[in-house]
Amino acid sequence: MTITFTTSLTLFFLLLHFSTHLQANYFPEDIFTISCGTTGNSSDGQRRWTGDEEYLSSQDGTVSEKATTQSFSINEIPYSTARLSRSQFNYSFPVSPGPKFLRLFFYPADYPSFSRSHASFTVQSNQFTLLNAFNASLHADAQAADAQAADAQATKTIFREYVVNVNDGERLILTFTPSHPNSYAFINGIEVLSMPTDLYYTPPNEIGFTQVGTTTLYSVETSSALQTEYRINSGGQQIPPQNDICLFRDWADEEAFFIKENQQNNDLPADMDGKMSITVSPDYLAPKELFRTARNQGTNGTLNKMSNLTWVFPVDCGFTYVLRFHFCELDPLINDMGDRRFFIYINNQLAEDRADVLKWSEKQKGVAVHRNYAVMIPKNGNQKRFNLSLQMHPYESSVDTTYSDAFLNGLEIFKISEDQSNNLAGPNPDPWTPLLFSTTKSTNDYNFSLPSDQCRQFSLVEIKAATKNFDSVFIVGEGGFGHVYKGYIDNGSIPVAIKRLRQGSQQGACEFVNEIQMLSQLRHRHLVSLIGYCCDNKEMILVYDFMGRGNLRDHLYGTDNPSLSWKQRLKICIGAARGLRYLHSGAKHVIIHRDVKTTNILLNEKWVAKVSDFGLSKIGPNEMSKAHVSTAVKGSFGYLDPEYFIRQRLTEKSDVYSFGVVLFECFAMICEIGISCLSQEGIQRPSMNDVVLMLESALKLQESADESEEEVREDVFDIEEHHISSKANDKLMLELFSEIVDPKPR
Ligand SMILES: *[C@@H]1O[C@H](CO)[C@@H](O)[C@H](O)[C@H]1NC(C)=O
Ligand SMILES: *[C@@H]1O[C@H](CO)[C@@H](O)[C@H](O)[C@H]1NC(C)=O
Ligand SMILES: *[C@@H]1O[C@H](CO)[C@@H](O)[C@H](O)[C@H]1NC(C)=O
Ligand SMILES: *[C@@H]1O[C@H](CO)[C@@H](O)[C@H](O)[C@H]1NC(C)=O
Ligand SMILES: *[C@@H]1O[C@H](CO)[C@@H](O)[C@H](O)[C@H]1NC(C)=O
Ligand SMILES: *[C@@H]1O[C@H](CO)[C@@H](O)[C@H](O)[C@H]1NC(C)=O
Ligand SMILES: *[C@@H]1O[C@H](CO)[C@@H](O)[C@H](O)[C@H]1NC(C)=O
Ligand SMILES: *[C@@H]1O[C@H](CO)[C@@H](O)[C@H](O)[C@H]1NC(C)=O
Repeated sequence: MTITFTTSLTLFFLLLHFSTHLQANYFPEDIFTISCGTTGNSSDGQRRWTGDEEYLSSQDGTVSEKATTQSFSINEIPYSTARLSRSQFNYSFPVSPGPKFLRLFFYPADYPSFSRSHASFTVQSNQFTLLNAFNASLHADAQAADAQAADAQATKTIFREYVVNVNDGERLILTFTPSHPNSYAFINGIEVLSMPTDLYYTPPNEIGFTQVGTTTLYSVETSSALQTEYRINSGGQQIPPQNDICLFRDWADEEAFFIKENQQNNDLPADMDGKMSITVSPDYLAPKELFRTARNQGTNGTLNKMSNLTWVFPVDCGFTYVLRFHFCELDPLINDMGDRRFFIYINNQLAEDRADVLKWSEKQKGVAVHRNYAVMIPKNGNQKRFNLSLQMHPYESSVDTTYSDAFLNGLEIFKISEDQSNNLAGPNPDPWTPLLFSTTKSTNDYNFSLPSDQCRQFSLVEIKAATKNFDSVFIVGEGGFGHVYKGYIDNGSIPVAIKRLRQGSQQGACEFVNEIQMLSQLRHRHLVSLIGYCCDNKEMILVYDFMGRGNLRDHLYGTDNPSLSWKQRLKICIGAARGLRYLHSGAKHVIIHRDVKTTNILLNEKWVAKVSDFGLSKIGPNEMSKAHVSTAVKGSFGYLDPEYFIRQRLTEKSDVYSFGVVLFECFAMICEIGISCLSQEGIQRPSMNDVVLMLESALKLQESADESEEEVREDVFDIEEHHISSKANDKLMLELFSEIVDPKPR
């Protein structure tokens, strides 16, 4: 069963890979996808990664280690292992001459005998300095502060993309040098990929493009290196690397950069149905998907034309930046040159005084065009960062334009290396110091906005009393986040589970807040109840009902516990399914758990199953728009919905998938229900309600078949929920099981 599933999954990925390659005009000559610190081949479900040993000039002085904190919200490959060293080390890649994408993946974490905060190093590639005295933990923490902890993956890992040109006869050499004797260098993943020669370097037969604020033309010479600062899909969602033919670029959504000055700025989908014909020539310039959405002000004429569409991008001072604008005219009202003309300002300077996309495309609608502009951001005293602004606004006069509107489909921003020094590296950010102290009574150091009415706020003194000052004899579990203690609150009268998140860093903070916000609003028999939290003195602590029988996994594998009876298993499954059903359809919003697995299903003294660990949950699409939530892929590998993984589309069916995996874990008889949960397409999976009904039916069957039947105690089931009579059951059951055998879209 499982084997068939894995095989078809592999085949599916293979086909996906193959079909995207078929469409492309460009085939990268060199593709290296290196998971550092590993040996042999591995796969993240999308791409094959190989070990790094054969590319290391010498392994002397280097070690490969796994991060001691394996956060479940980061991608295991390439981030879980690293190559580390306290002395210089080199990688050498045999590549063809020409420009290459060079992508670096870092996970600043603690590694055995390498402390997170001691990483500081310089990275060079041939003559270029990419990173200088790079304090990785400091960057990760600053990035987390910038992202306002909105994205757990972004707060923990660092990704950098460069473009370097390799001359004839050269190899691509990557040198890592620790900054000082007490520091070390590390790297988790490296990608080297050839790209078309004229993609970002200005072809020799072209004269260059506007450098704003000057009268000179600018061109990107092959003697410079580029760093991708931003690459956005304007008005649309992220386009993940696997959707970008052959070049695997990541097109982020623009949310963090677009300034919503008023409510009048539209993000009208240019081509909502995806039916319009779009020509991108050559096709590797950008994925077609980029042009199906746009940010604009509305051609209708009802909006305030005199406001600007505004974006702001933080960049390092002292460098020249190249901005590439992507456009494609699809609007049914715009059919001729002059129909839609607008201004483009970069850094408050006029870059284009009569942008006219149909003019650039020679009056062809649906033909993608792009324009480059350069801008110098000078050094300014000790200032490290600068907010680079982009503004667009339309002509107002009906003489100069038919419709008053400006629009944008996509944007790329590159930093260009300094001419003399070949440097691309910026300074380290200032340390992030958000913490406030007050130490005796309960405070909220992190100033998170946390509910205090729905759940109890504990002081650290109370928590210490409950756990005898975190005595290790009280530890009942541990994970990447820290330890779980059994404690007694209220003068020792009430047993509780106390989850103490690892101290100090920003890591885990967003999961902490998310869990509190989710759980304090949700009360259900089959969800673990949050009693309260403690946010004192840099601690992040969660207090839950104590679950006497631990997690489901411990009763399934390698355990001395007596094995669960079939009926017990079924009841546990029904309980967990009900908890999930409540999340999907019982609460105010659809809540998608995103990390359903056997360790997250807990059992109380009476074997009642409760779903736990809401740190990764997301509020899903509401009833009105059954759209989908797009987000960085999170969750535990193996339990992850392939549809979610491929399309980055999160729906409540993603939980159904993970639940299906839970059903398989040694529940042989429920395999069929499991199989339907694991249908490749979310639409073919049953809803959580169907799953509850199917399981209940299975339980009924089991009960009638069971000769030495013991009484089923009603209290195991909460009757207030959808409970079907045994008569109505038969018909329903037949329908549901026929659906399992032959799933049809609903
Ligand atoms: C890794 O995969 C490549 C391509 O399929 C193959 O040539 C190579 O032998 C594999 N290496 C190992 C160690 O399995
Ligand atoms: C790494 O490469 C650089 C540049 O080729 C070279 O100068 C240096 O000696 C190499 N270092 C090691 C440790 O091999
Ligand atoms: C990195 O920055 C942090 C915060 O300023 C500092 O504590 C740490 O010592 C730095 N690490 C190195 C190796 O310089
Ligand atoms: C402009 O928008 C309004 C309100 O949405 C609509 O009623 C009207 O028909 C639109 N006009 C044109 C010319 O599209
Ligand atoms: C739009 O931005 C430009 C550049 O900053 C500025 O000169 C212009 O006044 C702005 N227009 C409006 C209406 O805000
Ligand atoms: C850039 O803008 C953001 C948001 O408006 C602000 O918080 C930040 O301080 C600005 N940075 C600089 C260097 O001006
Ligand atoms: C928490 O943040 C709010 C609003 O951002 C601010 O008014 C308040 O002073 C902050 N409280 C503390 C303790 O820093
Ligand atoms: C705990 O004991 C103290 C002293 O005996 C008493 O004042 C307090 O009310 C008790 N608290 C609870 C929650 O029972």
